[in-house]
Amino acid sequence: MSRTLVIYYSRRGQNYVRGELKELEKGNTELIAEYIRDAVGADLFELQTVKDYPEDYMECTEAAKEDLRNCARPKLKEYLKNIDDYDNIVIAGPCWWGTYPCAVFTQLEKLHFRGKKVFPVMTHEGSGEAKSRTDLKKFCRGAKVEKTLAVQGALCPTAKDEVTRWAQKKLK
Ligand SMILES: Cc1cc2nc3c(=O)[nH]c(=O)nc-3n(C[C@H](O)[C@H](O)[C@H](O)COP(=O)(O)O)c2cc1C
Repeated sequence: MSRTLVIYYSRRGQNYVRGELKELEKGNTELIAEYIRDAVGADLFELQTVKDYPEDYMECTEAAKEDLRNCARPKLKEYLKNIDDYDNIVIAGPCWWGTYPCAVFTQLEKLHFRGKKVFPVMTHEGSGEAKSRTDLKKFCRGAKVEKTLAVQGALCPTAKDEVTRWAQKKLK
């Protein structure tokens, strides 16, 4: 049985769900990360930025756009030192302007991926997999980057069966 690590970023609080502003107690991507943990006994590593993004959704989208424009690498509260103990690395996050939040790249730039299998997972509100796989191919040099599992944010609370089936098939 392969050993799987899920590295994820997820933002709780105000978010758009099917065109309506809602308060999410748990982020969409966090739900998916937990489904994968439950399905295959994966370890989880949550990426948390030192500086919080704005609670207000619109302000957050502006901050994220600014990050992307500046190729920002937001500081994290904690960093993974290595991924030596794992065969499969799931990289899960929300779609922010077509790719992962810059904080994901802060962590990926510090790791060595040679010989690993990387599984992109992206939650979104319409953009699907966006640039998740293309970008992970750039940041995870030497890894085999598989196809993205894309889950619409609004469907995350009810996606446990779908994600469990995916995880048990792909992360063997
Ligand atoms: C800053 C920001 C930018 C976003 N950009 C996009 C986008 O470009 N395309 C899209 O489909 N959804 C976009 N969304 C919606 C999120 O991808 C979606 O709600 C996701 O499931 C949130 O996951 P989380 O709760 O784990 O953070 C954006 C949300 C935020 C907060």
